[in-house]
Amino acid sequence: KKVGVLVSGRGSNLQALLDACADPAFPAEIALVISNIPGVYALERAEKAGVPTLVIPHKGFATREAFDAEMDSALRAAGIEIVCLAGFMRLLSAGFVESWRERMINIHPSLLPSFKGLHTHQRAIEAGVKLHGCTVHLVTPDLDDGPILIQAAVPVLDSDTEDSLAARVLEQEHQAYPAALKLVAEGRVTVKGPRAFIRDDG
Ligand code: GRF
Repeated sequence: KKVGVLVSGRGSNLQALLDACADPAFPAEIALVISNIPGVYALERAEKAGVPTLVIPHKGFATREAFDAEMDSALRAAGIEIVCLAGFMRLLSAGFVESWRERMINIHPSLLPSFKGLHTHQRAIEAGVKLHGCTVHLVTPDLDDGPILIQAAVPVLDSDTEDSLAARVLEQEHQAYPAALKLVAEGRVTVKGPRAFIRDDG
C-alpha cells in the first residue's frame, strides 16, 4: 500500500515508519511526505530515505479547507492509499477527514481518551497518573478521537520530568506506529461504531 505521511517537525515517528517500510516484507511503502512547515528535520529524513517530499505552507491559504484541498490533490496525484499523521500540528477539516475515513492514522502521546490535545506528558505528571503511554488511532473529525488500533503503556516514575516521561513514551510510539500501519495496510481492521476490531492472521 502507498502511504503518505504528514509532518510538521522533527519526524522521529516518520523515521520509525521509514525504517519499517525499508523491509521488503513490510506491506506498505512511503511514497510521499508532506510538511506544512519549510525546513523541518522530518523533510531531511525523507530525502535521506529517497522519498519525495512536498512543502505546503498553510500560511499561504485563506481557509483550512483550501489548504486541505491542496494536500488532498497532492496525495491523490501520488496514488496514496493510506495517510499517516506523524507530528502534524494542524487541525484537519471534516471534509478532508471524511474523504480518508478508515484510511488515515494518527499517533497521540497519551493513553486516549485521557489527555487529548497538547502538553500531554506534563498534564499526566500533574494528574498523578501512574500509567501513561501512546495511542495509534484512526482519524475522525474530532481531535485525538477515533477507533483505537494500538496502545502502549509506560510507568510514570516519581522522579519523572516532562522530558524523561516524553522519552519513555516516544520509544513506545516508534514501536506502535509501524505495527498499527501494518494492521491497516494488511486490511485487518474493521470499524464498528467507535471501536476498531483487529483480525488476527496468526
Ligand atoms: C509525537 O510525540 C507524536 O505522538 C505527537 O507529536 C510528536 C511528534 O514527534 N503527535 P516526531 O515529529 O514524530 O518526532
